[in-house]
Amino acid sequence: MIEKIEIVDIPKISDPRGNLAVVEKDTLPYEVKRIYYLYDVPSDAYRGGHSHKECMEFLVALSGSFEVVLDDGISKKRVTLNKPNKGLLIPTGIWRELENFSSGAVCLVLASDVYEEEDYIRDYEQFIASVNT
Ligand code: TYD
Repeated sequence: MIEKIEIVDIPKISDPRGNLAVVEKDTLPYEVKRIYYLYDVPSDAYRGGHSHKECMEFLVALSGSFEVVLDDGISKKRVTLNKPNKGLLIPTGIWRELENFSSGAVCLVLASDVYEEEDYIRDYEQFIASVNT
């Protein structure tokens, strides 16, 4: 399952005036219901540390870089995001941790659902138990 999680190319329009990247209806397998972003993240901070029961998320390093550790309960994979035209599509049921944020990094998240705390699994043991059922 973890092998299927890949970096997705975001269509880009290059121009001497600068690049323009577009995420639209067909870029993601869901309708975006929420947009949030992480910024001013200290380099020693850990974000994430949870999985979602239903919500899918698409992460983009709009600026700078950070690493995402993905865990499906069986194996782990570390992905570096450092390009505004590449995104990481995280399906449901994946534990994720974000770390090693560079100075000035901005992590944009396009989510398939509105914020609902009930959709989170924040306890790793509970996550492993959910994977095994
Ligand atoms: P948290 O899930 O810890 O952020 P991250 O996974 O990026 O490290 O969220 C931090 C706080 O913000 C927590 O109290 C929940 C709240 N929050 C919202 O109110 N709405 C949102 O859309 C998100 C993502 C978090």
